[in-house]
Amino acid sequence: MEWEWSYLFFSAIMLLPAFIFFFSKKKTSKCSYKLPPGPPGLPIFGNMFELGTEPYKKMACLKQKYGPVLWLKVGSSINTMVVQTAQAAAELFKNHDVSFADRPMVDVNLAHNYYQGSMALGRYGSFWRFQKRICTVEMFVHKKISETKAANSAEKGSGIEVTRFVFLASFNMLGNLILSKDLADPDSEEASEFFNAMKGIMEWSGTANVSDIFPLLRRFDLQKLRKKMVRDMGKAMEIASIFLKEREGERKKCEEKGKDFLDVLLEFEGTGKDEPAKLSEHEIKVLIVEMFLAGSETTSSIVEWALTELLRHPEAMDKVKTEISRVVGPNRKFEESDIDNLPYMQAVIKESLRLHPPLPFLIPRETIQDTKFMGYDIPKGTQVLVNAWAIGRDPECWDDPMSFKPKRFLGSKVDVKGQHYELIPFGAGRRMCVGSPLGHRMMHFTLGSLLHEFEWELPDGVFPKSINMDESMGLTARKRDSLKVMPKRLDYISNQQVFESL
Ligand code: HEM
Repeated sequence: MEWEWSYLFFSAIMLLPAFIFFFSKKKTSKCSYKLPPGPPGLPIFGNMFELGTEPYKKMACLKQKYGPVLWLKVGSSINTMVVQTAQAAAELFKNHDVSFADRPMVDVNLAHNYYQGSMALGRYGSFWRFQKRICTVEMFVHKKISETKAANSAEKGSGIEVTRFVFLASFNMLGNLILSKDLADPDSEEASEFFNAMKGIMEWSGTANVSDIFPLLRRFDLQKLRKKMVRDMGKAMEIASIFLKEREGERKKCEEKGKDFLDVLLEFEGTGKDEPAKLSEHEIKVLIVEMFLAGSETTSSIVEWALTELLRHPEAMDKVKTEISRVVGPNRKFEESDIDNLPYMQAVIKESLRLHPPLPFLIPRETIQDTKFMGYDIPKGTQVLVNAWAIGRDPECWDDPMSFKPKRFLGSKVDVKGQHYELIPFGAGRRMCVGSPLGHRMMHFTLGSLLHEFEWELPDGVFPKSINMDESMGLTARKRDSLKVMPKRLDYISNQQVFESL
């Protein structure tokens, strides 16, 4: 999340009158709330200049000084509580989950009324409960991942950029599961326009917005983020409309094929009591767009981190490859059903999620009501960030926390299902990731297929320990430099099948 200094400077000038007013006004009331401790902030700007480009790391450093719960003010209006330890997270999710179950409204999500229909960013209430039910029960249960195709982007003899490659693979997998469409098809104009619009939406959603920090400036849309969002969200929704119309035409022709998520949404008939009789076209389009937003970068980012860590730790790479060779063997492709028989590979994924949670602060929550939390008074409307990154590296929970050691999970009961608060890459409680079972299948299937079908080598001159591990924060925390590798296809797979098995 880059803070753009020119915008901030401009904002400062625009806010000068408010600043003068603030100081000329005699303070009459003193806040009687007992707030958590935190660094003193500047008037008007609060602590915003302390956040930097990787705020979860900055916050983790402040834990030493301020303890498990931190209080910040971002700009003029965003009261923020940061939860920094597994114990504090357990207290939040076990004892106060409902009070913290809302999501803050951000400016870019007003574009095309996205928030009205969004599950991940929508308000906690009966419509969200209904969406959660339909996604939990019906989401993607009808199709196997192995029925899907991934991107064919490995060019012969050249190194590949892992970021782009695994992102396309995840995006295409979701395209097949949600829409039964090959969205990496280079001949489909709609597919590539949809892909580009979604990339834009991800970028604008992951950029810190002056309009949120200083609501007074909202109308100026200084970074033009809302404008860009209106453009790209409009395009994505327009193409989603085309997909919907196509499907309605196909359904009239009574085509026989496996049900996908779009079928489930179109066929939905509610009881009418606490769920709608039908989903509106807008609600279906938003859910479709949302599943791509929530599922593609998260999944692909963790596959890239896992591959990077394995390349940095050749002994772990050997172990995981040996396990896959033993279970899958040389004569067939990797299948979803293999995942359960690969404990070491599962440990590699868990260890990667511990060190590199794709959403280091989960998705921000908001307090629905004034809440007493760990002895503090947390006002209604407070933004709540759970620092999963700091928790995953907490020396009080983890032995040698900074080292990549998948074997720590062998024989351990700790999993990522939201019950073990020291490892919460999918969150926990009511608003925990609804796509986690699918994310689990996608991550393991992609990594397993890549390791089974290719030998991965670093390009000449790059050594395991010299791989740049810096992160950059957008919608997710990704590797800053895309990992570049030379995939050497194993002999027993035919050349025409390049990556089709994913
Ligand atoms: C590695 C993969 C993934 C990770 C690490 C991940 C992580 C998360 C996290 C941290 C949250 C917020 C949880 C909270 O507030 O406590 C979330 C929410 C959500 N995720 Fe995922 N996710 C992944 C994959 C997916 C997939 C594949 C989908 C669907 C296609 C998905 C759909 C959602 C939705 C709809 C929500 C909003 C839930 C709500 O607000 O009630 N996610 N995810």
